[in-house]
Amino acid sequence: MILKNKNIYVVFLNAVFLLAITIFAVNCESLMFVNQAPEISQDCYVLQDNKLVINIDAVEALQKTGGSAIVVDSKLDKKILIACTGNNTFRVVSSHCTHREKAIRYNHASGIFECSSLGRAKYDLNGKAKSGLAEGDLLVYNFTINQNKMTVSLF
Ligand code: FES
Repeated sequence: MILKNKNIYVVFLNAVFLLAITIFAVNCESLMFVNQAPEISQDCYVLQDNKLVINIDAVEALQKTGGSAIVVDSKLDKKILIACTGNNTFRVVSSHCTHREKAIRYNHASGIFECSSLGRAKYDLNGKAKSGLAEGDLLVYNFTINQNKMTVSLF
């Protein structure tokens, strides 16, 4: 009798565990990357006239190929991810996945932007959705670089 109750208890726990995993996977809510891009300090950029001007020389993460950093500011609708894809070559995209807005990161080894969530949306460097649960292309920002200043057009 005790053994039978124990088996029922184990089956119940397994069912609860599977239900939790299923809810977790379906909702695609978590598993954030531990190594998110660092935030750019507010003293390294200014927001003016629908433009974001960043002193890229002051952002260590953007000094080397493969590095990336994000701008998080309450005046912005979205977080903005800046990736250094090559020698003085950059890409600027929205840091929000088109599936459920989870954080995007730059994966230099694979040459892609990818979602941190279980849906694993992947985008090429032009923001085009390639695989996973992406529901559209990433928002890509135009920018210019003049000496050490990057000016990003915010539309
Ligand atoms: S939020 Fe689900 S794949 Fe990005």
